[in-house]
Amino acid sequence: MRYSVLEETPTAAEYVSLRRIAGLGARSVDAARRGLPGSLYAVCVREGGKLIGMGRIIGDGGCNFEIVDVAVDPIHQRQGIGSAIMQSLVDYLTSAAPDSAYVCLIADQGAPALYRKFGFEFTAPKSVGMALTI
Ligand SMILES: CC(C)(COP(=O)(O)OP(=O)(O)OC[C@H]1O[C@@H](n2cnc3c(N)ncnc32)[C@H](O)[C@@H]1OP(=O)(O)O)[C@@H](O)C(=O)NCCC(=O)NCCS
Repeated sequence: MRYSVLEETPTAAEYVSLRRIAGLGARSVDAARRGLPGSLYAVCVREGGKLIGMGRIIGDGGCNFEIVDVAVDPIHQRQGIGSAIMQSLVDYLTSAAPDSAYVCLIADQGAPALYRKFGFEFTAPKSVGMALTI
């Protein structure tokens, strides 16, 4: 296979770069250095060693989990890489999360179709997502 799907956390520099390339909000290298080691689970997709896709799960390991940082380099999108990332994340949750655990994510425009394939549903109108950026 052309791509390698690896259970590992990207480096801070790789993470900041891929978020930018994929059009996600900027994260500082300092924030990435502090935050990435706190991942419960992370997946990297590499082509010849180069990071071209990633996804992470953060949370308390019992009650609450959040899927974050799902991103694929635009050059490599629409080839099933996002689905492969989500499959790894959901496989982890299926094996590691206890009954009653709540898994959430914030879906950017264009992404809901991907998440729906893995069983995620809109929370609105019962509840709506809220966010604060420091
Ligand atoms: C969302 C993203 C991760 C999908 O990655 P991908 O490798 O293109 O995903 P896949 O090829 O596995 O496609 C998965 C499904 O997502 C949907 N999808 C992906 N890109 C889409 C697009 N541009 N428009 C509409 N649907 C799209 C489709 O339903 C697709 O399934 P299908 O090919 O069976 O129809 C990628 O587009 C991305 O990184 N976008 C920018 C960053 C971002 O928005 N990340 C999500 C943050 S919540």
